[in-house]
Amino acid sequence: AININKLRDLTGTITIDPGFKNSGSCTSAITFLDGELGILRYRGYAIEDLADQANFLEVSYLLIFGELPTAAQLEQFETDIRKHTLVNEEMKGIIDGFPKTAHPMGVLAALTSALTAFNPKSVNVENEKELYQAVCKTMGKFLVIATWTYRKSMGYPLNYYDNTKGYVENFMNLMFALPTEPYKLSPIVTEALDKLFILHADHEQNCSTSTVRMVGSSHAGLFASISAGVSALWGPLHGGANQAVLEMLEEIHQNGGDTEKYLAKAKDKNDPFRLMGFGHRVYKNFDPRAKIIKKAAKEVLETLGVEDPILEIAKKLEAAALEDEYFKSRNLYPNVDFYSGIIYRALGIPTDMFTVMFAIGRLPGWIAQWKEMRENKEPIGRPRQVYTGSPLREFKKPV
Ligand code: ACO
Repeated sequence: AININKLRDLTGTITIDPGFKNSGSCTSAITFLDGELGILRYRGYAIEDLADQANFLEVSYLLIFGELPTAAQLEQFETDIRKHTLVNEEMKGIIDGFPKTAHPMGVLAALTSALTAFNPKSVNVENEKELYQAVCKTMGKFLVIATWTYRKSMGYPLNYYDNTKGYVENFMNLMFALPTEPYKLSPIVTEALDKLFILHADHEQNCSTSTVRMVGSSHAGLFASISAGVSALWGPLHGGANQAVLEMLEEIHQNGGDTEKYLAKAKDKNDPFRLMGFGHRVYKNFDPRAKIIKKAAKEVLETLGVEDPILEIAKKLEAAALEDEYFKSRNLYPNVDFYSGIIYRALGIPTDMFTVMFAIGRLPGWIAQWKEMRENKEPIGRPRQVYTGSPLREFKKPV
């Protein structure tokens, strides 16, 4: 095995690799990704099999602890998470301090960070029991506060976790249940959400995960590291793309569905517009998650009887881009978020909550990567630079 602490700069030179396009930051046994062949596996299991046969908590357990849980382990995991779904009442005061118009991702990052204040003790990763408890606490509280960002934006009273329901069912209940009426959930919705969360659960060293590992490498706590991950995820080049995709599709629809015009804009190097939901740093052939989601979007819409012109625009745009020399020569294909928003929309989830959905899905990946980084005793992340500023100058106050 490679001892990462011994991988030192032996030559004295510094390599520059902006965006880390060719630099590995760690070794990891969690997720395998082959961008040329379009392969994604969690702990050795194909993403297609997991999306088809497992549920989100099973996959979370697999990512975090390395093996699929037995039925008893899964039940225990769910019970232990449930025990940690109560959030300090003072947190409500923090939520009240935000304007209703605040973006849910901004509120989520702040609330996750605030959880650090209520849970200041740092986790001893060598103590199995303590680590397990921290995992359950993070999984439990994060789900609840994520849905509170929506309740706040709507001005609704906050809902509490319902112990008679499963984790994914609870998400919809926490979001949409009325005081007198629990949310009526169809199994199709639970299945679709399970799939979406699984597909987003980990993706090796992406921007938000690298951020979680980097912040955690200073031995900052789990909530603080996750909160940094939420902020990194928010950007439109990363998790924020799912919101941007839907806004783009809506705009195309409102402007008469002229996909060619938007394709031309995306190709114009003088126009900053990019086709949102297209392209990926690592997948240069296809994104295996996009294939699963495209199929799921069609199924969900058909089953729920939703006719959405946005789906037709997405299909038209995809077909045109796949035939286009600009996109073909740059290996630009739809990524996971090109179709996810269409499902979220069909489930009644507002557009500005899409990236929060991504964060809920990515949470077990962030936890698993944080845990692995600490267990591997990785050194503090501290990249070098090549200085390009002024040489030594004589100090003189400007007159
Ligand atoms: N639309 C138009 N052109 C694009 C797009 C796009 N969506 N994506 C990349 N390109 C072009 C670039 O302009 C560049 O062209 P050039 O060689 O003529 O200069 C070339 O393709 C390579 O692009 P880079 O930006 O160098 O690729 P990089 O790996 O740095 O970026 C990224 C990947 C950020 C995903 C990019 O493709 C993008 O901005 N896509 C749109 C946003 C998006 O969907 N993000 C979600 C990513 S997946 C996720 O986080 C779940």
